[in-house]
Amino acid sequence: MSLDNLIDGRAIAKEVHAETEARVAALKADGVEPCLVFIRVGEDPASRVYVGMKERTAAKLGIRSETTVLPEDTPEAELLELLEKLNADDSVHGVLVQAPLPGHIDETKVFSTVSPGKDIDGFHPVNVGKLMLGEGGGFVPCTPGGVHELLIRSGVPVEGAKVVVLGRGNIVGKPMTAILCQKDKHANATVTLCHSRSRDVAEHCRRADILVAAMGVADFVKADMCKPGATVIDVGVNRVDDTAAEKGYRLVGDVDFAAVQPIAGKITPNPGGVGPMTIAMLMRNTVRAAEQQTGKGNPTI
Ligand code: GUN
Repeated sequence: MSLDNLIDGRAIAKEVHAETEARVAALKADGVEPCLVFIRVGEDPASRVYVGMKERTAAKLGIRSETTVLPEDTPEAELLELLEKLNADDSVHGVLVQAPLPGHIDETKVFSTVSPGKDIDGFHPVNVGKLMLGEGGGFVPCTPGGVHELLIRSGVPVEGAKVVVLGRGNIVGKPMTAILCQKDKHANATVTLCHSRSRDVAEHCRRADILVAAMGVADFVKADMCKPGATVIDVGVNRVDDTAAEKGYRLVGDVDFAAVQPIAGKITPNPGGVGPMTIAMLMRNTVRAAEQQTGKGNPTI
């Protein structure tokens, strides 16, 4: 079976990292050490892994990072107070509160408390609004931003393409739609957003030139939902029970890769597709935050 249609997220993330590293060097030459603070509340196992990966990448690129881990029962007010302190600290350029948060904490309130200029996740209403208005200058959420970058750097034509986004979450589906329908030469797509109440999802998918699966249902996209030659992007990370696996589970995407890969024109592997790009965009956003806040370095994007 030929696998020459894979979009190599790790290789493309490396390209982005190289650009980010050059910007870190320019900032440091100007006396600024970019700094990112992670906040994790509780011990969600997936969040521990994700924050760990982000910490290691920051260190590799020369970005200083600090992680605060708060207990699961931390009152919301305490978290908000910590965010206000970080907002006021000029040595901190980016703040990331890892989601999901415990049920007693209002995520929207938390994301709205991080100052928009330090909101390298792009979740603050000001940044969400800038994206919707097509204003530029704000921070774009890292996962859909990473998918966009994958499409551009893999030479997938987006302008005029029929795109179907599966999933309407605030972290991926909704911003993905906004990015791809912008009036811009790397966007200008005709975007359809399908969700759990959509009718005829398979029919929508079969029309797509580009299919972005981000609804969090294991192996949802099957061969008969993919137009031959379409580009398929798998954002999903789902745990499925597997007694044969060491941990008792394995991680699978939203796309049935074995079935869809032979039909797709281009497809992301999972892992090794979207995941590395999410982290690459986070690092790029952090460096941009540091450049904007200090007026130093060599802003290029
Ligand atoms: N949880 C899942 N994805 C993300 C993300 O991009 N940012 C944050 N802060 N939490 C997440």
